[in-house]
Amino acid sequence: KDKDAEWNRGAFLVQGPGHCGSCHTPRGPAFNEKGMDQSSKLFLSGGLLDGWYAPSLRQDPNTGLGRWSEDDIYAFLKTGRNGHGVVFGSMADAFNNSTQFLTDDDLHAIAHYLKALPGDPSRDG
Ligand code: HEC
Repeated sequence: KDKDAEWNRGAFLVQGPGHCGSCHTPRGPAFNEKGMDQSSKLFLSGGLLDGWYAPSLRQDPNTGLGRWSEDDIYAFLKTGRNGHGVVFGSMADAFNNSTQFLTDDDLHAIAHYLKALPGDPSRDG
């Protein structure tokens, strides 16, 4: 299926300069990220790194971003907070060093891309 330009921009930012998977994707025995893009169901499904749990960014309703709108995600990355919570732990570093400096278009593209990643009912208790 063809994806629109905003989706492609979001995919690039999340997989490339945003490094979102370095924290949000689970690691294998060789510390390898279990999935580098949307072709893996484990990509961005939640990871533990340096004692911080970075939750699923997929559309899991309970454990992921299923209940967040694109605007909720945008606000979180732009301002560090929204109606669902406030950045903390290593996400505060990602926010301080990276996401707050992205343009509005780029942040909307990231949100758009994340909203297109399906959840997995077997993960969502
Ligand atoms: C250095 C590790 C790290 C990086 C890099 C990182 N995150 Fe996070 N992220 C976390 C941690 C830890 C949390 C949980 C704490 C919190 O909610 O602030 C989190 C939380 C989040 C949340 C809230 C999830 C929820 O359910 O509460 C969103 C949305 C998010 N990150 C998006 C991103 C995006 C998009 C990127 C890439 C641009 C990214 N993160 C990069 C560590 C990271």
